[in-house]
Amino acid sequence: MPITFETSGFEFVSGDMDVPVAAVERGIAPAGLESAGVDEVLLKANEFEAKPGQKLVTSTGGQATVLIGLGDDEATRASIRERAASMYGAVSSLESVSSALVVESADAVGAQSALESAIEGVLLASYRFEELKGSPKDPAALSRVVLSVPDGVDTDAAVERASGVASGVALARDLVNRPGGTLRAADLAAAAVAAVEGSAVDIEVWDVERIREERLGGLLAVNAGSVHEPRLIKWSWRPDGAERTIVLVGKGITFDTGGLSLKPGEGMMNMKTDMGGAAAVVGTAAAIAAVAPNCNVIGIACCTDNQPGPTALMPGDVFTARNGKTVEVLNTDAEGRLVLADGLSLAAEMEPDAIVDLATLTGACVVALGMDIAGLMGNDDDLVEKVEEAAAAASEQVWHLPLPDKYRKQLDSDVADLKNIGAGRWGGTLTAGLFLQEFVDEHPWVHLDIAGPAATEEASEVCPKGGTGFGVRTLLELVSEF
Ligand code: BES
Ligand code: MN
Ligand code: ZN
Repeated sequence: MPITFETSGFEFVSGDMDVPVAAVERGIAPAGLESAGVDEVLLKANEFEAKPGQKLVTSTGGQATVLIGLGDDEATRASIRERAASMYGAVSSLESVSSALVVESADAVGAQSALESAIEGVLLASYRFEELKGSPKDPAALSRVVLSVPDGVDTDAAVERASGVASGVALARDLVNRPGGTLRAADLAAAAVAAVEGSAVDIEVWDVERIREERLGGLLAVNAGSVHEPRLIKWSWRPDGAERTIVLVGKGITFDTGGLSLKPGEGMMNMKTDMGGAAAVVGTAAAIAAVAPNCNVIGIACCTDNQPGPTALMPGDVFTARNGKTVEVLNTDAEGRLVLADGLSLAAEMEPDAIVDLATLTGACVVALGMDIAGLMGNDDDLVEKVEEAAAAASEQVWHLPLPDKYRKQLDSDVADLKNIGAGRWGGTLTAGLFLQEFVDEHPWVHLDIAGPAATEEASEVCPKGGTGFGVRTLLELVSEF
């Protein structure tokens, strides 16, 4: 059910609202709640201290009232988003809710961005993937959210921007959640085309003939074992007067069996999510008009499945990548870097000011950083810092890892310019990063290894199990500040 957002003047909780949600600050809670008719004794009995995210469902004057703690710390956009998501979780079975969350947190982050963050939180929390369920669960009832705001807020602008961002994230989640047999490269490309239709984003999709003409040797090598054609998706946002250009590149392996270097069953189970990088790049395309950055943004997604079979790439095979470098493939399961080699080469040819790639690239990154944190590597301190800041603003966690020169020789091949794996399993995330670096031609570049956070096995208030849309909000933050 679509949710409409309305705002009302600055009133803590007004009587005509159907379901007041009082967002309270620690310390001032009892006093601030008197006007909402919440009994202090009840708060004490329930040990409600307004700790961050703490919830208490009660009723005042015949209406449900949900108290959500905001804690002592100054509000941030992330905390507002999270509290709004908690609110959604508490009231989604009701039809309408009104909340003071925005006025309560407007001082800290500005009213406009407090409102945007709250709307984003509600919409992100309301995402469900039910397109493959025979009988979908009862849909949530919540269809109206009234947010009290201080004067001077542009509600329509906030709704448009936050809805745009949330729909980009939802698209990325959908794409990650779709099974490999449902979402082939051509389906991923069709979804991207549909997502930008009617917007100011231009898009082209290269089919296998065009991919051959363009000499995308890495994408063709990975695709060799598949009966399904590869696709390269290329979209662009080019506002008038833009001076700077950033290129986003995503790994779009719609299913990763490992190829002839076949994965064991256990390791293959979640490999429908191996297009999480491409999903982030496509999700960003879907949202970019709502954010309307004033730099040029180009998105490239390199899409194919990775399959074994009589025509598949064999260990020891050598291909020539788009930039002319030859690569000896010793393990066909290290395929993401092969398709990215071409994507990054294309990006570098555009002589951009920055390149950012996203890829579910290495299991080693999940070993190092766990499920929630992306590995970040790059060749330019300034761009590294910008991406770190964007990720922090989006509350998507990243951690800077090195690209040690010393390890580069592990990629030396006896027969070609490079081989596609390091000497052993140690430092597998870093040798993968060093491999990618061979294709960016000294342009400022950051690589995000999102093997962990692209999907989650644990539901949170902002995201159910499955695809997370990780990267979309970081990229949108990055391009809007670029
Ligand atoms: N798609 C995988 C990486 C991955 C693993 C993503 C676990 C999410 C969860 C990637 O293509 C891969 O198979 N990488 C190999 C590289 C190795 C062969 C050098 C890996 O990590 O084992
Ligand atoms: Mn693989
Ligand atoms: Zn893969």
